[in-house]
Amino acid sequence: MVVLKISFLATLMFAKYAAAIWPIPASYEHGSEVVWIDRTTKWEFDCPNGLDPLIDRRVRRAIDRAKHTTLNKQLVPWKFKPPGVDFDPPTDGRYHSTIRRVIIQQLSSNETRAPAYEQMDESYELYLPGPKGIQSTDSELLETLIQKYGRMSIAYIIAPKSAGLIQALTTFSQLFYAHTKNGVYSPLAPVAIKDKPKFVHRGVNLDTSRQWYPKAAILRVIDGMAWNKFNRLHFHVTDSQSWPLEVPSMPELALKGAYYKGLHYSTSDVQDIYMYAEDRGIQVIMEIDMPGHTSSIGLAYPTLITGQNIQPLWTNVAAQPPSGHLKLNNTNVEDFLTSLFNDVVPRLIPYCKYFHTGGDEVNKNIYLLDEGVKSADHAVIKPYLERFLKHAHDAVRKNGATPFVWEEMVLDWGVDLPKDVIVQAWLGDESVKGAVTKGYRVIAGTYQNWYLDCGNGQWLDFHNDSFYPYNDWCGPKKNWRAMYSYDPANGLSAGQAKLVLGGEVHIWSEQIDEYSIDSTVWPRAGAAGEVLWSGRRDAQGKNRTFSDASPRLAEIRERMVNWGIAASPIMQLWCHQHDGDCQYPDTA
Ligand SMILES: *[C@@H]1O[C@H](CO)[C@@H](O)[C@H](O)[C@H]1NC(C)=O
Ligand SMILES: *[C@@H]1O[C@H](CO)[C@@H](O)[C@H](O)[C@H]1NC(C)=O
Ligand SMILES: *[C@@H]1O[C@H](CO)[C@@H](O)[C@H](O)[C@H]1NC(C)=O
Ligand SMILES: *[C@@H]1O[C@H](CO)[C@@H](O)[C@H](O)[C@H]1NC(C)=O
Repeated sequence: MVVLKISFLATLMFAKYAAAIWPIPASYEHGSEVVWIDRTTKWEFDCPNGLDPLIDRRVRRAIDRAKHTTLNKQLVPWKFKPPGVDFDPPTDGRYHSTIRRVIIQQLSSNETRAPAYEQMDESYELYLPGPKGIQSTDSELLETLIQKYGRMSIAYIIAPKSAGLIQALTTFSQLFYAHTKNGVYSPLAPVAIKDKPKFVHRGVNLDTSRQWYPKAAILRVIDGMAWNKFNRLHFHVTDSQSWPLEVPSMPELALKGAYYKGLHYSTSDVQDIYMYAEDRGIQVIMEIDMPGHTSSIGLAYPTLITGQNIQPLWTNVAAQPPSGHLKLNNTNVEDFLTSLFNDVVPRLIPYCKYFHTGGDEVNKNIYLLDEGVKSADHAVIKPYLERFLKHAHDAVRKNGATPFVWEEMVLDWGVDLPKDVIVQAWLGDESVKGAVTKGYRVIAGTYQNWYLDCGNGQWLDFHNDSFYPYNDWCGPKKNWRAMYSYDPANGLSAGQAKLVLGGEVHIWSEQIDEYSIDSTVWPRAGAAGEVLWSGRRDAQGKNRTFSDASPRLAEIRERMVNWGIAASPIMQLWCHQHDGDCQYPDTA
C-alpha cells in the first residue's frame, strides 16, 4: 500500500522545498508535483455529533486563520533559489491540479477544554492531492474518507481532537508558496503526513515583570509559538521588579506595583491572552513566584515582606535588586495568599488546570531579618518553608489547579511535596535527573542551552573596570545550534524519561522588551520547538543534523517575517541560495 516512495528521487532535486515544514513531522512523504489552491477552494469542517460548541468555534477560527495565511501570507521563495533560476511553476493547465476542497475531519467529540497532560492528543494526519489525486496510503482513516468524498482535488486533515486539527492547519499553510505573478501553490504534491509530538509540554517562559510588555507583544509571542508548535505559555507575570497583574480584591497590588499608572494586565487583558492562546492550541500557565522574587508585593503590603529593597548591599540577601521575600511563619502572609489565589486562580481554571507558585532562588540570609524566623540556617528555615508551601498549594488546589514549583524547592530544600506537583528544572541535566529520581514529573530547559536572555552582558553599573568586559553569568548567547543540541531527557533511562513532560525556553527580561523580543526569541526558540515536537533524534535514533535543519529554520524565519514577526536571520543569504555549500568540511 505504500506508494509514495517513488517520489524520493524527485525529492532530492527539490531539496530546498523538501524541507518546508518546521518542526519536521514524525512521518512526512511527498512528491514534487505542483498543486494549486485558491479562493474558490472550499474548507469544510466535519465535526462529530456532540462536539462542544465552544470547541467547534475554536476549530472554525483556526480554519479561517489557516485559510488567510495560506492564501494571503505566502512566501515567494527566491531566497532559497540561486540567483537567475526561474523557480515559478508554469501557470497553464492548472485546472486538474487545484485543490477544490479541504476536508477537515475531527474524529472524537470526547474532548474537554483545558485538558490535563494525560488527556491531550495533538496527533493528526494531513494529505495533499497531486494531479492524480490522493495517492494510496496505509491510512484506514483516510480510505474511509476517500470512500465518502473522493480522491481527486481534495486535501484531507484528520485528527482525533481539535488540538491536532489546529497543529495540522499550521502545517498545511507551510506547504505552500506564492507565485511571483499570481496564485499560491505547493511544489510538494502529493503529500502524506502523520504527525504527533514527542513531548506533551512545549513551553515558552515570558517574564513580564522586569520589563513591561503591552498585550499586543504577548499575543505576538503566542503567534510565534503557534507557528513553531509550542503549546504552553509560562506567564511569569510578577517578580520583585514589578507587579503588573490586576487583582480586583487587592487593587493596591497593581496600583503600587506597576511601573506606571495603567501598566498592568486587567482581568479582561488576562482573559484575552488566555483565549488567544487557547485558540492556537496553547494553554497559559501563570506563575506568581514566591516566597522569593516578591519585593513588588512590599510596595502595597510592606508588612508581608522581609528585607525590602536593602541598599547598597542587596548582594547579601538577593540575586538581584530589589531584595525582599515574603515572610515565613506568618499568618498575615498566609491570609494574603489565600485571598490572592481565591481571586486569581478561578478565572484561569477554564483555560488551564495548572498554576506555578515559583520557588527559585530563596535566599537564606534574608530570613535572619524575618521576625518569625530570625535565622539563616537551612534546618531552621526548612519547616517554615514547608508550611508556607503547603498553605500556598492548598489554596491553589482548593481553586482547582495543580501546582508547579521551581526545582530548588525539592532539590535544594528537600521539601516533600505530593507527586502530582510538577517540578521545573533550570540548572541542568543533573537537576532533571534529581527530580525524576524523586518521582516528580519534570519540565526541563537548562540555562546552559535554553535561556534566550544570556550573552547580553551585564546590566549592573560598576564602580571600576574589574568586571571588564562585563559578561553576564550565563553567556555566551545560546545560538540556535546550541539550543538545537539540547535533549530534555539527556542521560535518562527510558523509564526516567517518561517523567519528563517536556521543556521550556526562557525569556528573562532584564534586557529584552517589546521592541527587541522578536529578534531575540525568533527563530532561536524555534530550534527548541523542533526538539520538543520532533525530538532531538530522528526515527533512526540519530541526532538531527544542522544541514537538514538550517534550510528549514531559515524558511520558517522568512515565513515568520511575512507573518509580522521581526525574527533574526540565521545565515548569510548566499548560504540559503546555495544549499549545501555552507558546510564546514568533514575531513575525518
Ligand atoms: C474520554 O476521554 C477520556 C480521556 O481523555 C477518557 O478517560 C474517557 O474514557 C473517554 N470517554 C469515552 C466515552 O471515550
Ligand atoms: C513562629 O510562629 C509561632 C506562632 O506565631 C511563634 O510562636 C514562634 O515563636 C515563631 N517562630 C519564631 C522563630 O519566631
Ligand atoms: C573594584 O570594584 C570591586 C567591586 O565593587 C571591588 O571589590 C574592588 O576592590 C575594586 N577594585 C579597585 C581596584 O578599586
Ligand atoms: C547527540 O546529541 C547529544 C546532545 O543532545 C550529544 O550529547 C551527543 O554527543 C550527540 N551524539 C552524537 C553522535 O553527535
